[in-house]
Amino acid sequence: MVPSELIKEIAKYGLENDQDNLYRALNVLIEHFKTHKKVNFAIQLQSLLRDALRDHQNTGMVKVGSPQYVLREQDREVGELIIDKLTSDYRFDNLVCSAEIKSELTYFIQEHASLDILQQYELPISNKLIFYGPSGCGKTLAAYVLAGELKKMMVVVNLGAIVSSKLGETSKNLAKIFRQAAREECIIFVDEFDSIGKVRDYGQDHGEMKRVVNTILQLFDYLPQQSIVIAATNQIDMIDDALLRRFDLKLKFDLPDPAHIKEIIAKTVKSNAIAFDKEVTQTSLISACKGLSYYSIQRTLVTAMKRSIFQKKDGTNMPKISTALWLSLLKKEKLGQKKSA
Ligand SMILES: Nc1ncnc2c1ncn2[C@@H]1O[C@H](COP(=O)(O)OP(=O)(O)O)[C@@H](O)[C@H]1O
Ligand SMILES: [Mg+2]
Repeated sequence: MVPSELIKEIAKYGLENDQDNLYRALNVLIEHFKTHKKVNFAIQLQSLLRDALRDHQNTGMVKVGSPQYVLREQDREVGELIIDKLTSDYRFDNLVCSAEIKSELTYFIQEHASLDILQQYELPISNKLIFYGPSGCGKTLAAYVLAGELKKMMVVVNLGAIVSSKLGETSKNLAKIFRQAAREECIIFVDEFDSIGKVRDYGQDHGEMKRVVNTILQLFDYLPQQSIVIAATNQIDMIDDALLRRFDLKLKFDLPDPAHIKEIIAKTVKSNAIAFDKEVTQTSLISACKGLSYYSIQRTLVTAMKRSIFQKKDGTNMPKISTALWLSLLKKEKLGQKKSA
């Protein structure tokens, strides 16, 4: 059936409050989008449908005036702890990384794409990853790439925001998020994982930090195999050893080497299709970028491109990227980093 007919049906069933037919029609629509390369939209619809079904089941289960409200209230609370719930269009192509990271992530994707085969052999599935290394080197991006490649919904959680000053609250918050994510089989991306180190101990009670670590260990142990946790940190030393050992995969995202610098420049320029103004030697550009993160290199280059477009005076030729301008931005960036270090 064509989508326009389906949408008419969906409107009709919705207005008539005919739940069964509405769910059936929505499922047909989801399948339609899946087969027409609109997978992300299909996943979003599926997630909406799942939420609604859960509420519906809860309503069916409870009598008037009973805990239905409480359940909704809990969902709302979890919503406040989660920064974002998203689908991703990012693919491997978007990430510049070492051959080792690429191969590890490729195996990881393969495992999750063939869960049933591994389960047949009763082999455990890797589902806990930690990405570490300096800021701006692709940890968050790699998580988006995994979500995009695996076509899974991802919830983004900032541990810094969850660590609560109230005794016992941090553990409770974490448990809530994991429970919801497990139910929806999505990826949980926990950014600023080192914030665990900031859990305060209270007076005589030196147990709060231990409790939080134990909660995470337990949540990890009971994590369903199809759920995935990705933690990210730029301070791996802050993380408890017992906790670190539980991760199936620890990947270091480092500053770019000369080959990676070339690659990130090529990717940044290509997507905007403007050229450099003159042939600067690759080596001089690369040494100007050395020591900076992918993010800093990309951001200064984009700024240089925008300013070069504005600088273009004659209306005839295509704008060219002013290399001198970019080099001066790179220099400033390095100075800024030295000052803040
Ligand atoms: N390895 C990389 N490959 C391609 N782009 C990158 C890479 N690292 C960083 N970037 C660019 O910088 C932005 C920020 O990087 P991010 O993944 O948030 O860094 P991190 O999480 O390690 O601090 C990305 O959205 C991307 O545009
Ligand atoms: Mg990040």
